[in-house]
Formats: sequence, structure tokens, C-alpha cells
Amino acid sequence: MLRDLERILIDRHTIAARVDEIARAMSADFTRDLAEIPADEREGKIVLIPVLTGSIVFVADLIRHLPIKLSLGLVAVSSYPGKSMESKGVAMRGELPKNLTGKHVVLIDDILDSGQTLDVLSKLILEQKPASLRLCVLLRKPGKSSINLNPDYVGFDIPDEFVVGYGLDYDGFYRNYPEIATLRPEAR
Ligand code: IMP
Ligand code: MG
Repeated sequence: MLRDLERILIDRHTIAARVDEIARAMSADFTRDLAEIPADEREGKIVLIPVLTGSIVFVADLIRHLPIKLSLGLVAVSSYPGKSMESKGVAMRGELPKNLTGKHVVLIDDILDSGQTLDVLSKLILEQKPASLRLCVLLRKPGKSSINLNPDYVGFDIPDEFVVGYGLDYDGFYRNYPEIATLRPEAR
């Protein structure tokens, strides 16, 4: 694995520090949301929806910095089928969590690229009339997107390069590499 990687774009310490900052911002927002609900109705109101599979490492780290009672509802999509790096649209795999009505929902993905994934999922979630919907991404690539999405939480803005590690894959591999890195051209 290591010899396929070209250069580290964001190292593990930088990632960890930023994840902690995002968690603080998110906690503050949840605390505000919950303060508006009567104390006996707060339970179950916070739902995080990680987009599988790319967000798993990020979410695993993030939720351990959130000292709030919350639940997870997973959603699986595939947007880069096979080896292709070109987005070919979004294929939902399975169903969205149900019963999001009246909940404070945060949709979490590894990277915002064309924006299609989060656009499709947000629309479906909004149909369930949550109390709020926020978007959180670890990485954001610069404005290739025609879709206008403004995530509430962004870890890092990165150049338009294909990256792997910390959950992000190329053809299913490299998700376990603990830093965010670019791939050598020979590995693609
Ligand atoms: P979007 O729908 O075009 O915004 O694409 C988002 C999805 O594409 C992410 O969930 C990733 O799975 C994948 N993706 C986009 N850019 C990269 C990258 O540089 N490395 C790995 N996966 C990527
Ligand atoms: Mg992905």
C-alpha cells in the first residue's frame, strides 16, 4: 500500500486537531438546538447520518468528541463505480433512515466534489421534514460543482486532486491509511 502513495496532503495530527474543532462547533450547535426543546422531549432528537463507506473513519473519530446523546443512521451510496474517477451519478444502496421528522439531522460525508451525493441525499432527507438538516464534510474540492451546496462544517479545502486515506478510497483500497494522501500515477 505505502509504495502506491505519492505525498501526504494532510497528516494525522492535523486531521485530529481539525476533527476536534468540528466536534466543538457541532456540539455547540446541538446544545443550542436542544435548549429550544422541553427537557423531557430531547431524547432521540439528534441523528447523525454518515454516508458509507468513505465517512466511516472520520465519523468514528468525530462522534467520540461529541458529548451529546445521539444516534446514528447509516446510508450507503456509490458514486464512483469501479475504477473510474469520473462521477457517474449517485446510486443509493438500501434505504435512508426513517422517522427523521422533527429531528436535528447532520449528514456526513468524506468529501464534497461535484455535490451530487449530498444534493440527492439532502433532498430525500428534507422530504421527511426534519427540524433541521446540516451538512458536514471532511474535505471539499474547489468549485467544479454546478450544485450550490454550503456545508455547515468543512474540515479542509483541498486542491482538485484525487486523494485517499482516512476513509477515502481508490477502487475500494487505501481507506485504512491514516493520513490523507495522493496516489502515484502508476497506481491509478
Ligand atoms: P460528489 O457526489 O461528486 O460530491 O462525490 C462525492 C463522493 O465521491 C465522495 O463520497 C467520495 O466517495 C467520492 N470522491 C470524490 N473525490 C474523491 C477523492 O479525491 N478521493 C476519493 N473519493 C472521492
Ligand atoms: Mg465514497
